[in-house]
This record gives sequence, structure tokens and C-alpha cells, in this order.
Amino acid sequence: MTQQNKVAVVTGGASGIGAAICRYLAKDGMDIGIWDMNEAAMAEVAEEVKALGRRVVTCKVDVSNRGVVTAAANQVRSELGPVTVLVNSAGIHGTSPILEMSDDDWDRMMAINLKGTFICTQVLVSDMIAAEWGRIINISSSSTQTGSPNMSHYVASKGGVIAFSKALAVELGGKGITVNNVPPGSIDTPMLRNLEKAGGLPGGIEAVGARNPVKRAGRPDDMAAAVAFLASEGAGYITGHTLSVNGGRYMS
Ligand SMILES: NC(=O)c1ccc[n+]([C@@H]2O[C@H](COP(=O)([O-])OP(=O)(O)OC[C@H]3O[C@@H](n4cnc5c(N)ncnc54)[C@H](O)[C@@H]3O)[C@@H](O)[C@H]2O)c1
Repeated sequence: MTQQNKVAVVTGGASGIGAAICRYLAKDGMDIGIWDMNEAAMAEVAEEVKALGRRVVTCKVDVSNRGVVTAAANQVRSELGPVTVLVNSAGIHGTSPILEMSDDDWDRMMAINLKGTFICTQVLVSDMIAAEWGRIINISSSSTQTGSPNMSHYVASKGGVIAFSKALAVELGGKGITVNNVPPGSIDTPMLRNLEKAGGLPGGIEAVGARNPVKRAGRPDDMAAAVAFLASEGAGYITGHTLSVNGGRYMS
């Protein structure tokens, strides 16, 4: 798979799944815009992208802030060129039983996970429409497929990401743009380690992984390989799809 000189923006690219996607797409020949709140971690990923021989721009971005996202889009366009691949991986997680969930808990989850996906997509899709080619890949969650206790706000936000992806796939299909989503299940990242610490993974990550048909937890590169495929030229007839990366935990 070669994607020579295409420009990809990866939100949440400073950590975990997003960082692996930055490295993987760079290996495939893309230049990378990394959008994240964590500047120090972004700088480390940027060095890895450069070491792979690709150009990189880092922008401190809160994906829920339209003004900041718009400025970052203009910076990436002016330094790297039009953006035709977008991976929406930025996300937050949290646990709260329904009776304890506040309006603020709910609104923050929706603002970052769902509205952030909308804002980044809307701000960048004009480049893809102009190019008559584009790939949008949204990172959802296996928790939307199975349900999950004490995270109804998170699961609802990610369910919205899947619905948004399907609707856009129909709207943009005739313009050469595909829109797909990849729900991860039990991928070993800082987010999952935090959930483990909060007691949300009975027996810990390794035990949860061992209960999967493939008998291990997922690695960030398992996600990156799936995203790179959906970003490839060869995936042009796949849109509106949910490509589960979960070790067989949920089969659809
Ligand atoms: N790890 C898993 O098993 C798992 C399971 C289901 C879904 N997911 C989803 O995968 C995506 C990546 O998660 P991860 O496991 O790599 O987590 P992670 O915490 O390692 O990485 C998330 C990144 O998003 C960034 N971020 C958070 N809020 C942001 C904001 N408002 N604007 C910009 N950046 C922001 C963080 O700084 C961080 O770098 C998330 O959307 C998450 O919900 C992960």
C-alpha cells in the first residue's frame, strides 16, 4: 500500500491508537498533521514521523473548539497542502452510573467525542470535495456494539459517531469520498490502562484480552493497520462500513 505525498490529519495523534496511526500512515508515504491537546507527546510522535522521512505539522487543538480547529486546518494546508485523509481518533472516556451522571459529564462527552468529530470533518471535507477524493475514518467503540455499564454517555457519543459516519457515507459517496468507522475493543493504550486503574476491567487488561477468541488484548498497531487499509486507494468501494478490531469479542 503506498500513499505517496497524500496529507492526513490524525486527531488524538499524540497517544495510543492515534499515535500508531500517525506512524503507520507515514510509513505508507503520507505527510501528517497531528492535532492533540498534549504538546509534549505530540512532539515525540512528530519526531518519529520525521524519522520515517515524512513531513509533519503539530497543532495544539481541542477538537470541540471550532475556531482552533479552523486555524489548525489552515496551518496544515499552508505547510503540507490540501488534506484528503482525516482520522478522527481524539476522544475521552469516563465512568459514571446513570443516577450520578451530571449534565456537564454528558455534555463534555458529546462535545469532544461527537461534536469534535463533526467539527473536524466539516472543516476539512472541502479539501476532499475539491480533490474529488477523500477518506474519513472515525474511531468509534466496541462498547456501542455490546453495551457497557456505567458509561452510557460515552457509549451514546460513540453510537452517534457510527450514525454520523453512515449518514455522511451516503451524502459524500458520489464525490469520491468514503466514510467508515473502526470500533476498537480492548486496545492496550493509556486510556484503557486508566479504565483498568478505575476498576472497569475485571481481572485487568491481560485477563480481558485472554477471554477474546484471539487470546490477547489489542495493540495500537492492530487499529492502525485497519485504518491504513480504509485510507488506501484499494478501499474505494468500501463506505459506511464498521470494521471491528476487537480480537473477535463481538462479531457482526
Ligand atoms: N483503547 C481502547 O480499547 C478503545 C476502545 C474503544 C474506543 N477507543 C477510542 O479510540 C480513540 C483513541 O483512544 P486511545 O485508547 O488511543 O486513548 P488515549 O487516551 O491514549 O488517546 C486519546 C488522545 O486524544 C487526545 N484528546 C483528548 N481530548 C481531546 C480534545 N478535546 N482535542 C484533541 N485531542 C484530544 C488525548 O490528548 C490523547 O492524546 C478514542 O476516541 C477512544 O474513545 C479506544
